[in-house]
Amino acid sequence: MAENVRVLLSEKEVDARISAIGEQISRDYAGKQVHLVCVLKGGSFFMCELAKRITVPVSIDFMSVSSYGGATKSSGVVKIVKDLDEPLKDKDVIVVEDIVDSGRTLSYLLELLQQRGPRSLALCTLLDKPDRRVIDVHVDYTGFEIPDKFVVGYGLDYNQRYRNLPYIGVVELN
Ligand code: IMP
Ligand code: MG
Repeated sequence: MAENVRVLLSEKEVDARISAIGEQISRDYAGKQVHLVCVLKGGSFFMCELAKRITVPVSIDFMSVSSYGGATKSSGVVKIVKDLDEPLKDKDVIVVEDIVDSGRTLSYLLELLQQRGPRSLALCTLLDKPDRRVIDVHVDYTGFEIPDKFVVGYGLDYNQRYRNLPYIGVVELN
């Protein structure tokens, strides 16, 4: 089956929005250090761009959880594949995700990270598909709310491809 990727959010739009979120976070965390927790692999492109636009001191860490197989549907199973290197105790933590879909991954992850005693814990996602929510998750910073379409680019993949696209596109099978 042939695939086609249609642009949903251009590189310019995404970059401008990330700059705005970076400014917002810099204001909200004035006088503090933010500890960005990237959820691999999807959150990595967004986190790097975001980190560059935050003007308060930043530290970063990575973790990997699996909630999806090779397909485009949630399995509902969340597993820690790679844990963080650093403790979260007394840190002002912002979890950086590519997308909140059903909310299963994030609700599990936030609960787990909360138990590690951060001073504060916030969630920042590049994309949100509110129509797909199964479990309620509080999102502090959202790049864009998007319709219920399977998207790729800026870290998001379809069978591990397209993560490197500098824009957000919709995969069309034809
Ligand atoms: P949730 O647990 O259903 O909220 O799933 C979140 C994860 O599913 C994201 O971090 C992505 O890795 C993946 N995901 C959900 N929707 C999409 C999509 O449209 N494109 C690519 N990956 C997606
Ligand atoms: Mg992800």
